[in-house]
Amino acid sequence: MTRSNEIVKVGLGKRSYDIVIAPGSLHRTGKYLQSLGLSGTVGVVTNPTLARLYGASLKQALVKAGFTCHVISIPEGERTKTLRWASYIVDELVKHRFERRSALVALGGGVIGDITGFAASMYLRGIPFIQVATTLVAQVDSSVGGKTGVNHPSGKNLIGAFYQPALVVSDTNTLRTLPRREWLAGLAEVIKYGVISDRNFFAFLEDRMEHILDMRETDVQTVVKRCCEIKAKVVGKDERESGLRRILNYGHTIGHALESLSRYRKYIHGEAVGIGMVHEALLAHYLELCSKDVVDRQRALIQRTGLPVRMPVHSFSKFWGAMRHDKKVASGTVHCVLPRSLGKVQVLPLEPRTVRRWYAYCHEPSP
Ligand SMILES: NC(=O)c1ccc[n+]([C@@H]2O[C@H](COP(=O)([O-])OP(=O)(O)OC[C@H]3O[C@@H](n4cnc5c(N)ncnc54)[C@H](O)[C@@H]3O)[C@@H](O)[C@H]2O)c1
Ligand SMILES: [Zn+2]
Repeated sequence: MTRSNEIVKVGLGKRSYDIVIAPGSLHRTGKYLQSLGLSGTVGVVTNPTLARLYGASLKQALVKAGFTCHVISIPEGERTKTLRWASYIVDELVKHRFERRSALVALGGGVIGDITGFAASMYLRGIPFIQVATTLVAQVDSSVGGKTGVNHPSGKNLIGAFYQPALVVSDTNTLRTLPRREWLAGLAEVIKYGVISDRNFFAFLEDRMEHILDMRETDVQTVVKRCCEIKAKVVGKDERESGLRRILNYGHTIGHALESLSRYRKYIHGEAVGIGMVHEALLAHYLELCSKDVVDRQRALIQRTGLPVRMPVHSFSKFWGAMRHDKKVASGTVHCVLPRSLGKVQVLPLEPRTVRRWYAYCHEPSP
């Protein structure tokens, strides 16, 4: 069965749960559900790509453990993360007479996880929800912490609920079929954890990046586990993002602005976060909050993954406008997570005048 070193516990009192991180764990999902005391009907929400790759294995694991399994397939991609598709999932649950104790399993990345968790939170005021996370972003970020939801035409993730899963299964073998670009984008979030909370983990990434890029099994498992431990610790202290949890947004103030300025076409999320981290570090250095080494080591590590690090040129007013429209802005003030050293960050309000001066300085032609 599962070894204790393959489990990260998310401690949230009654809402606590385990994250299982191990190659091949997807095939044991049925047993895990049994040990949660679940039985009867399970809905598996997924998309056609994931159904083709892992649907049969997951279904077999569930049926072998005595579950009746209904697959609910929704189209692939971020455009499916809508109220309409959440409502379609609920329709399927009604149609198959799901009860309070029937579980909903998300088989996929962050898109499938977010919408499935949200549907599970709504149906009968909440049914058990399990994530089988298949992207690096899902394994290190979106499956941990209970943020579920869908997009609104006027903004990403505007509709949602905090709803914790009963279990997360991260089968690191599934990452092998992930498109390379998605894998690399996840590495930006991985590097983020080093900067916000763990200098030794950052050094480990510097030391092992070539092996990680080659997807060496033990390194990948160490990476996913350490990221989950860090996120679990943060979420355990601040489940609903009233304070500490904001540090997880490092790289995201500028990252979100770049995504929105390019109308979500040029970058996938992690790519924008990588550029965001480099530039938030540059801003911190400009404000004399950290040494140049903090900027240089991040930029070098991100560059080694092959992720972009350069910021496209936009006018300052467009750039600042996009930063101000981020959903996380509170009462008109832009707060940004800025590094003090590797492993330590601080949340600070930004003065537009200061950012303008830094922006001009950044875009000055070099001598
Ligand atoms: N809830 C949270 O805390 C949180 C945190 C971060 C991101 N998110 C959300 O997560 C979403 C992004 O998630 P993502 O980066 O996982 O992308 P994704 O879910 O869109 O998956 C990326 C692509 O990879 C495919 N795919 C997934 N797993 C695969 C595999 N193992 N093999 C082959 N193909 C595979 C998917 O079908 C999809 O086309 C966004 O909607 C974002 O808002 C949520
Ligand atoms: Zn992110």
